[in-house]
Amino acid sequence: MSEVTEYKKILPEELYRKLDSFVEDLGIDSKDPRKKGYLIQVLHKAQSLFGYLPEEVQKFVARKLGVCHSEVSGVISFYNFFTTLPKGKVNISICMGTACFVRGSEKVLKEFENFLHIKSGGVTSDGKFSLDVLRCVGACGLAPVVMVGDRVYGNVNPKMVGDIMTDCIKLANSMEENK
Ligand code: FES
Repeated sequence: MSEVTEYKKILPEELYRKLDSFVEDLGIDSKDPRKKGYLIQVLHKAQSLFGYLPEEVQKFVARKLGVCHSEVSGVISFYNFFTTLPKGKVNISICMGTACFVRGSEKVLKEFENFLHIKSGGVTSDGKFSLDVLRCVGACGLAPVVMVGDRVYGNVNPKMVGDIMTDCIKLANSMEENK
């Protein structure tokens, strides 16, 4: 039994089928040396389907494109918009770039960790929230910065965490309603 087949017991078969047909529609010639150029495009699609790129999805992509697994994992670790960890419905990212760090982002992170009872990189047990850290997001004038989806919170201090979480809870609830 292949590892991909093994993994299908965990991740929905339907998503693998969608990814498979996405790659097929690209009409990539397995002998085309430019096929690596499709890798990022396929990984974006895979992440949008599965929410993250665990090892077995990486292997599936590698096999479909006829490239090495190490090549796929190399691209994933190079671009920080790819993630190998599952995310919650609402992901909260704390910037740990230099400007944010010197202005106290570590304390902000700690407060989120205490509030959510998870560590950075974790997901709450109900799957609603995840927490991670980012490198500079290019908004240093607003340091410390927290991002929730596309929304940027600036000049954040630990006392603001409760209000930000109120927004996050509303966002998670509205996502549930719009399912
Ligand atoms: S260091 Fe945080 S936005 Fe630049």
